[in-house]
Amino acid sequence: MKVIPVSFFVPKIQKTGNKYMSEVAFGNSDKTTNGGNRQLPEKQPNYSYGNTINQYSDKGRVEVKKSKNRSGNPIETHVKYRTGNIKQREAVYAVDGDKRYLVSLMHYDELGDNIKTIRPSGNGGAVVLELDKEKGEWNSRELSTIHYERLSYQPKLAGVLQGGINNITTQQINGPTTAAKDAEEVEKHFPITYGQPLVQTIPMYSEFPLRQIPAPKKRNVGVILSGGPAPGGHNVIAGLYDALKEANPDSKLYGFKEGVKGLTKGNSMEITDVVIDEYRNTGGFDLLKASREKLEGNKFDKVLENCKALDIDTIVIVGGDDSNTNTGLLAEWMKAHNAGIQVIGCPKTIDGDLQNEHIEMSFGFDTATKTYAELVGNLQRDASSAGKYTNFVRLMGRSASHIVLEVALRAHPNVALISEEIEAKNMSLDDIVDDIVDVIAARSEGKDDNGEKKNYSVILVPEGLLEFIPEVKRMNSSLSDILDIVSKDETFNKKSDKERFEIVKSQMSKEDAKVFDKFPDPIKNQLLLPKDDHGNTQVAKIETEKLLIDLVGQKLEKLAVEGKYKGKFSPLAHYLGYEGRSAFPSNFDADYCYSLGYNAFALAQAGLTGYMSCIKGLTRPAENWQAGGVPITSMMNIEKRHGEYVPVIQKAMVDLEGSAFKMYKNEQPHRWALKDNYKFPSGVQFFGPDSVCNKPSLTQMYSDIPETDCNLLIPKNILEASSRSFQTDEKLGRRVIKTVTPDGREFVTTTTACKEDGKRIKSKTYEIVDGEYILRSEAKYDGSGKTIIFSQVEKEGGFHYIDFPKGEWVIVDEVGNNHERRDAEEYVEALNSGEINTLAM
Ligand code: FBP
Repeated sequence: MKVIPVSFFVPKIQKTGNKYMSEVAFGNSDKTTNGGNRQLPEKQPNYSYGNTINQYSDKGRVEVKKSKNRSGNPIETHVKYRTGNIKQREAVYAVDGDKRYLVSLMHYDELGDNIKTIRPSGNGGAVVLELDKEKGEWNSRELSTIHYERLSYQPKLAGVLQGGINNITTQQINGPTTAAKDAEEVEKHFPITYGQPLVQTIPMYSEFPLRQIPAPKKRNVGVILSGGPAPGGHNVIAGLYDALKEANPDSKLYGFKEGVKGLTKGNSMEITDVVIDEYRNTGGFDLLKASREKLEGNKFDKVLENCKALDIDTIVIVGGDDSNTNTGLLAEWMKAHNAGIQVIGCPKTIDGDLQNEHIEMSFGFDTATKTYAELVGNLQRDASSAGKYTNFVRLMGRSASHIVLEVALRAHPNVALISEEIEAKNMSLDDIVDDIVDVIAARSEGKDDNGEKKNYSVILVPEGLLEFIPEVKRMNSSLSDILDIVSKDETFNKKSDKERFEIVKSQMSKEDAKVFDKFPDPIKNQLLLPKDDHGNTQVAKIETEKLLIDLVGQKLEKLAVEGKYKGKFSPLAHYLGYEGRSAFPSNFDADYCYSLGYNAFALAQAGLTGYMSCIKGLTRPAENWQAGGVPITSMMNIEKRHGEYVPVIQKAMVDLEGSAFKMYKNEQPHRWALKDNYKFPSGVQFFGPDSVCNKPSLTQMYSDIPETDCNLLIPKNILEASSRSFQTDEKLGRRVIKTVTPDGREFVTTTTACKEDGKRIKSKTYEIVDGEYILRSEAKYDGSGKTIIFSQVEKEGGFHYIDFPKGEWVIVDEVGNNHERRDAEEYVEALNSGEINTLAM
């Protein structure tokens, strides 16, 4: 293969009249379509390509030309025109079956001049060439191979959105909403937007009553990325942009730079094909950049002024709980001022703490946790290879421990601290240290089944840990109040560390001062850092892993002196946070974000404000995803921030009763702490089988325990009161859903899924009686993986089964004679009411 240096592709500028033309723009088109060194797919023998054919797509002025390149492989050229037949964009794709792979992409300005080209470079990857018209120069920069490949990825839209933006509408569901907590107080802050109903995005052809929506008018929309970066933000913008242009090509999307800062300063850029095409399916927030700024005071007037200047009618805020608190505040303010500007939010944060009944997961969590899980897996492999390091890995997640839990379920470290459990058990810092020391000491003595002495381990630490240790939380809350006052005195910050420590201690209770003194000076300094704009402690700056290393080291030394510890302790500190926040989004995040952005525009079209875009059913394939809008106020509660009680979106903590946490608790003490049961999950995968590329996070999968035949076997009220979790069952040697009823009966359900698409085919439920597994029921499912088409419950002297397609249930005796036939619904009702108690078999 001939390697062509990048410089070869930098086109020479020719000036013709007032037009700049480049070699690439109108030069050897074969060179363009041949795609440099790109490996084109194998020739398709049945591919019906003749000479170039012209086709016009139904979505406006996009011309699709099918042809072959010089090697005889099929290619497609998609040309988008502006009015007046001026080319706007030309994309050449290599075609492999129903897949399209980008070969080159060219953008043209209003004059028809080629101003940007993305194409393969000679040395792998690709090169972006951009024309600086004023200087008459082409600037070039390189893209990695994966960056270039990801530009070809067409994110999947939620099934309900696939009919196109002009064929969907929204409908209200249920009545008015309230707030997550403190409803009366929240309502006082949002007298206009409080209580709006949930809405569902539905296709126009739906059987539900439709609200007539006007023909799409031209709209100008502004978008900001807010808070910490999360993988997929650029795809929210891409989905929003594509929906907006699809609705009306004259509509415009403006991106405000640096989040709220840009909105208030009026620092914006228009998002066009030229801008967005290079950012599709990429990580980070670098297209617009972000900031953590709170909307307050006269900033609202500034936002209005800047939006009016661009004739913007909708603002989309892509952010986490604090940023979307801004969404609610801005929506209310705009309504109160009759500004005619709608505000819609999109749920972002790697922390996973923006989730509730309707928001199943914030975007970015999936990619970030897969990235961290890979690194933790690598550390585990290194630990067990070198056999000498105790790795303390602090993982991001400001408050909740969702990230630690997900990574733990993926990688099976020896210990994973879950802040929510520590708080619930009222554990002190010393208790936590003791627990860790116990594991390290037991491992060093070989207290597992093969007696091997292990002086290595991997311990996960949530970055928000300190704020969940009750004694530290109390001290920190009092410290916050003290800092709010003392930091206003400029001399305070100029004092020495020791002096500052004494000043804050002198204003604390004795108890709090004692807790404060437990920390080494560097950590004390970190605790004194100012809160962010929203009043949050900057936990990312507190080196909790080093603190634990210190305290664990001291305790082990003491034990060694007492002759109770003979192992070797070589600790390593790691902090994984920023490494995962800007990674290329997984397919899941790419699809989810694209759908969120697209749906945000559908909500805007429906005239809504103060809503968050919502995509549901995320554990199923994208074609089954549902969409809708959740009123921001319905997610709020009142919290103390910067010394004041204010409305904010309630953070979702790890549910200690949830399946994901129970799964961890079932496994970690027995199978991970002393024995090594490390798993090595590699990170985000884009190419390969569905099972490695397209599965959402485990915590999500576990929280979505499917309806099983258990629901038929156990009356509903008992099932609801039972604990249910995913586990590995030693005896069956496979993953099961374990159900334990309040009276202690134990059931396990196995599920067989289709290898190709992961959908359920059948399941079996066993009752465990004195260690024996007794088959109690079997179920089979139709292709959607959800619907039970057949369920059978064994019964003494016979069995009965329910035949869903026929809508009947049947009791059959040993010889197969039918005794009774009833309506299927009646059967389920009879089960739920206890009329038939299949447990009493
Ligand atoms: P968001 O809530 O804005 O998504 O940010 C979350 C987070 O990544 C936390 O996990 C971390 O503690 C914090 O941002 C770090 O913030 P910063 O970017 O200001 O250092």
